Order: sequence, then C-alpha cells, then structure tokens
Amino acid sequence: MVRHRNQLPEPISVHLHGGHVSPEDDGHPADLVQPGQSKDYFYPNTQLAATLWYHDHAMDVTAPHIYAGLAGLYVLEDPGEAGLGLPRGAYDIPLVIQDRAFAADGSLIYPGMSSTSLLTTGFLGDTLLVNGAPWPYAPVAARKYRLRILNASNARHYMLALSNGQPFTLIGTDGGLLPTPLDVPMLSVAPAERVEVVVDFARDGVGASVVLQNMMGQGQLSQVLRFDVTRVEADDSSVPSVLRPIARLDPAEAVQTRDWTLDLRGSGRGATWVINGRPFNPSRIDARPQLDTVEIWRFRNPSTMMHPMHVHDVMFQVLDRDGLTPEPTEQGWKDTVHVEAGQTVQVIARFTDYRGIYVFHCHNLEHEDHEMMSQFEVV
Ligand code: C2O
Ligand code: CU
Ligand code: CU
Repeated sequence: MVRHRNQLPEPISVHLHGGHVSPEDDGHPADLVQPGQSKDYFYPNTQLAATLWYHDHAMDVTAPHIYAGLAGLYVLEDPGEAGLGLPRGAYDIPLVIQDRAFAADGSLIYPGMSSTSLLTTGFLGDTLLVNGAPWPYAPVAARKYRLRILNASNARHYMLALSNGQPFTLIGTDGGLLPTPLDVPMLSVAPAERVEVVVDFARDGVGASVVLQNMMGQGQLSQVLRFDVTRVEADDSSVPSVLRPIARLDPAEAVQTRDWTLDLRGSGRGATWVINGRPFNPSRIDARPQLDTVEIWRFRNPSTMMHPMHVHDVMFQVLDRDGLTPEPTEQGWKDTVHVEAGQTVQVIARFTDYRGIYVFHCHNLEHEDHEMMSQFEVV
C-alpha cells in the first residue's frame, strides 16, 4: 500500500507503469486525487521481478506533470532473480533518461500547447538528464554493472550504444528478465520502455572513460552519460547463460484479434491524435476482453510518426513487426511497443486476475494528452 498525498495545486492520478493491479489502484486518468486529498494505492506485487515506474496520469495534463517531475522508479525483485548472481547492490544502477529545456535562470521551459510542433512531435528538449542530473558522469569500478535504463522522456526516442564499441549484454526489458542474455551493439529505447543490461568496465581498465551514447542525437543530445573507471574492485557477479524461461503465448490460443489504427485527425491547431479515428472519451469502451482469455492486438500506424503504444494491466509479447521477427529487446515480456511510421505490430496478451476498466495509449505524452488513448474493460 502506498499513500499519495497531493500537496500540489492541481489534481493528480498515480499510475504504476507495468504494474498488474486492480482498476481502482491503476491510476485511471479520471480517478483524480484532488489538491489536499490523499489516496491509498494497493500494489500486490504478484508479478515477475522487473523495473517498473510510477508517474502522474491525470487527464490531459500527464505530459506537463511528468515533465515537472512526477515520475519515479519502482524496482521489483524476487528470489529467483536474486539467485542468478547478477551484479547487485551498489553495482545495480537505475538510469532514468529524460530530456528537458532550461531557461537562463535554471527553470524548466515547457512550450504551451498552442505550439503545433509540440502536438506533432511531442516535447523534445535540448538537454539530457540522467536521474535528474544534466551532463552526468558516474565513477565506476573496473568490473560488471547492471544498468536498469528507463526512457522517461515525454517524446524522445533513444538509440543507445557504448563509445568503446563493446556490445551491451541485454538481460531484461519492460517485464523483467529475458530467457537468455543477448549481446547487442545498439539498443532502441522508446518512451516508457525499459532495458536492463550488464556492462563490464574491466575491459577498459582504470583511467578509461566510456560514454553511453545516443546514436539518434546530435551534439549534446548524443551523450547520455559518461562512466569514469576510477578503481579496481573484486567482482564475484556473473551473467548465467540461462536467465528465466518465458512461455510463449500461442497465437492459436487467441480468441480475438483487434485492430487499432494510429493516426492524426485534422490539421494545424485543430489536429488530434486518434485511435481508430476517435479521440479519448472516458465514457466509451472500445474493447471488452474476457477474463483469462488470450487476444492479439494489431497496431497499425499509417501516420508519419512513431507511436510507443502502452497497454495497462497486462504484459504482452511482441509477435511480429510487419511480419518480421521482433527486435532483441522484444524477446521478453513488454508493456510498451514502439510502432514505427508505416508499420504494423502485433502483440499477444492474456487478461488475468482483474475485471474492470483500463486504458491503453500512446506513451508520447503529448500524443497521449491530445487524445491518443482508448479504454478496454476486462469482463
Ligand atoms: Cu506509463 Cu498509462 O502509462
Ligand atoms: Cu502503464
Ligand atoms: Cu503517438
């Protein structure tokens, strides 16, 4: 149970992103906690170990609220994972990546919604922060580290790579560990996605610096974080060749296939992002999956922008991208999938434990606030 007291001048709603919780505890955008009020959220934590996060979800103002700081990390552990021997404690580091824009006095700049580019691209800042710090660096020992990377940016998509040319050892994504570790040279991390990697600084040696780079950014947007290898330390951690088996959901089990088309409706100031042609309406339910059944959801993106689609309540598996094998970061459980312009992505999920109303939406926060959200009710 977590009690949130709202001491802000505006209503808020708290969502545990990736959490499998009842609708009452899910932070629905209309389930507001008014200024001066509090709400108790119950998180049973009966799900696999994973890096989750929590953030504001108030209707139409999630983007400015998260931008102003209403987001945090929620690390769920379990004995199975603890027994694997992965780097722990001081060697298990969360990295929350966000982009911001600052005025000369250090205050945050957030353009008004009258800016049409804000609606189109979502907010894109010129300064990267890691865990709230601009131009960050971290002193590390010459050994292995587990890095839990969360893209908590409003709209920016990162392509991460290490400046020493070493691949990442990818061990987990949104829903926790992958079945086996994978060596990947570059990692795509769209808004709300998480990747967990092991990086071994022993290869570089004391005195070296290794930069976590963003291959999708120029200038200061290309450098996320600098690791300075400052000391030698013993390392008894390891990355086992088997992490945690994942039972694949069988498409033949699906009782329903649903199509969701992601597009822009209208133009200029009157434009809105819509799903199946309709803007969000909290009194409309667009799908009613049956409890304990499996469904395939097909996200089709005829628009010219990428949409990171997020479904509350469930973890899903990515079946394919335009018929092709999903990316390495999509070999495990996911709650957010990036759907590139022109692409169709199919995911599969089982709706378990809770009946009731949940939302799903684009996690480009300006798109989300500007109506790219819909509701389903588990019946
Ligand atoms: Cu991370 Cu509905 O949100
Ligand atoms: Cu969520
Ligand atoms: Cu979008």
